[in-house]
Order: sequence, then C-alpha cells, then structure tokens
Amino acid sequence: MPEDEKDWLEVLRTGRWWRQEGRFVREFEKAWAERLGARHCIATANGTSALMASLHALEVGPKDEVLVGPYTFIATINAILLHYALPVFVDTDPESMMIDAAKIEAAITPRTRCIMPVHLGGNVADMDRILEISKKRNIPVIEDACQAHLSEWRKQKVSTLGHLGCFSFHKLKNLPGGEAGAAMTNDESLYRRAYGFHSHYRTPPNEGGADRAASRNGINLRMAEFQAAILLRHLTRLEEQARRRDQNAAHLTELLRETPGVVPARMYSGCTRNAYHLYMMRYHPEAFAGLPRARFLQAVRAEGIPIGQGYGPLNQDPFLENTLSSRTYRAVYTEREIAQWRERNHCPANDRLAQEGMWLGQTVLLGEKRDMDDIATAIRKVQRSAEALKT
Ligand SMILES: Cc1ncc(COP(=O)(O)O)c(C=O)c1O
Repeated sequence: MPEDEKDWLEVLRTGRWWRQEGRFVREFEKAWAERLGARHCIATANGTSALMASLHALEVGPKDEVLVGPYTFIATINAILLHYALPVFVDTDPESMMIDAAKIEAAITPRTRCIMPVHLGGNVADMDRILEISKKRNIPVIEDACQAHLSEWRKQKVSTLGHLGCFSFHKLKNLPGGEAGAAMTNDESLYRRAYGFHSHYRTPPNEGGADRAASRNGINLRMAEFQAAILLRHLTRLEEQARRRDQNAAHLTELLRETPGVVPARMYSGCTRNAYHLYMMRYHPEAFAGLPRARFLQAVRAEGIPIGQGYGPLNQDPFLENTLSSRTYRAVYTEREIAQWRERNHCPANDRLAQEGMWLGQTVLLGEKRDMDDIATAIRKVQRSAEALKT
C-alpha cells in the first residue's frame, strides 16, 4: 500500500531508526492508548516482552505464583518462567475456552502474586469475577490481550481493566507490525517501572525521564521505528476489519446452529465485543458417527477450508518439567515445592478441550459472507459422509 510504503521509507531514508530519534513509536503509543482509553502505552519489541515488562513492574519473581489458564500460547507461560516464578494452572471453562474464574480463589496461596487471564482468540475472560477476586484478595491482574485487539468487557477495552494489559502485534495478529507488542496501564508507578525495564532504566528525559536513583535491572525490549510506522497505518484499517470479522463470525455462528457437533466458543454476557482473532469451536465426534477430530479436520481442509486444531494440554508439555528441573530453577525451588506444584497441576476440563478444540484464523473472517456459507457447507458435507470417512 502506497501510504505504508511512504512512511516506511521515511524511516529508512531519514536514518531515524529508534524511538529516541524518530516520531513513529511515540505517535503509535499515543494513538493506541487513545484508541483503548488507556493512560499509558509502552511500545515493545513483541508481546512476550510486554508481558515480561508487566511482570517486572509488579515485581513478580522467584517463589511467586502466577495464576493462569493452560489454554494459551506458550509465550504466556514463558514470560512467567523467565522471572523464575511458578505458573499455577487454573482449569479452563471449556465452553468459553477462558480461565475458569470460579476456580481461581481455590488456587490462591500466600505466594500468589498475580492473576493472568488470557483473552484468547479475542474472546474475553470473566473480568467481573476476576476483578472482584483481585480486589478482595489484593492480587493484581495482568491481562494477556495479545489476541484481543479492540475486544471489550462491558464496553471497556480489554487491557485497561486489570493493572496492566499486553498486546502482540506479530505479523499474524489482527493488528500486525511484523514483530511488535505493547503494555498498557493506567497506573503511573507501574508505567514507570515497566517503561524503565523495557529500556534498561536508562530512559532519556524527553521520554518520561529516568530516575536513576530508582533504577533497577532492565533490558532492551524497545520497539523500532520501522514497526511503529507500519502499525500506525494498519491502525487506520483495524476498526473496519474488526466490524467485518464480527459480521462474518455472527453469520457463521448462525449457520453452525444447524450443525450439531460443532459448537462455537461461548461468550460471557459481559463480553460486548469479541475481536475474533480466532473463531474457536469444539468438536463432538458423537455427532459425526465417531469420526476422530484429526480425520474431521483433514476432510474439512480437503474442502478448501483452512481449519486448525486448538492448543494442546500446555500444562503437561515437557518444557515445564525440563525448566523446573534445570539448574537455575533448582537453585530457587526445593524438590518439595516442585512436587507440590506437580500435585496441584490438574486441569481435567482443559485436557478434554485439548481433544475437542479447533479454530479458524482471523484472515478467514475477513472474507465474504459466502465464504462463511462455504465453511458451513463443507462441515455439513463431512457430517453426511462421516461414516464412510471412518474407513
Ligand atoms: C496469548 C498470547 N500471549 C502472548 C503472545 C506473545 O506475543 P509475541 O509472539 O508477539 O511475543 C502471543 C503471541 O502469539 C499470544 O497469542
């Protein structure tokens, strides 16, 4: 697109490639904060670094526990592990595919430092309940909104409901910038800490000012001007695309009502907008003559529909045990502490969801209404031939 090219080339040709010299990162921070109704935005290198900076701002560290759902991308968990905290898994509500807020309180211990709901696929976790627990137990909330650009809970944009909220602008996201991210907050002191961390606490005065006396360990997680230039242009298209996704998703949901065995993810009544980064569904083989999910997905793909299977049971992934038995983790946690963590790590509803989950990516929802018809037609065709497909 010519306007995108113009801005990108401006960055290239002026040689102003990082935020201190350029205008784009700061303009993007301002524009994104305004769009969401947030006081502060910190543009970062990616979504993982936004989560890292947010966890740092809350001083999450060794011996701390972070409550999180296992139905998410591995980055959510890695951000916790990189601070040497323990991800304590709270089971998933399989209908919404969000953290089961009714199970959060039972998982709280004196070591619980933070709750990290993930608004997966653009759907929204039960923020009424989560914020109520946060307030009652005085435990801060980081919203992982990496897949939820413009999603809303009771008309308020996600990422602004908790203490901090994080976005990814990875190339595949609804707002793409190649590799990029952002951390949002309304809290001045959390902003200063997250901002400091993301730039070695060596922030120049024109960037909010560095209080050297209050500086700590940090890292370079800054967004480059090139990414911000692209993001600002995409931002002008986001609303229109969000509407299109919404309309197509509504149409598809209507069509799927007539297809038993394929059940779209439920939205809680407080979810006033779903960004539909993913159109998430559950598959019930009973309605397909017992056809296994893998065969179903293969058959639907053969009809030209790019359907994928959902996340696996991340809380059982070997990377966790390998990390927890590493030299560095053993320096922090005793065998007993790890054994106790293991005993608590049971998420039967999520295990089931890992067998049933499937989704369509956000670009599919940018198609035409008739593309949604094609999806439903393909699923019905597979349903009619399910018995034969088993052999
Ligand atoms: C739920 C979730 N959290 C965190 C991340 C991390 O974002 P990034 O890949 O930009 O580091 C992603 C990105 O895919 C994500 O989907």
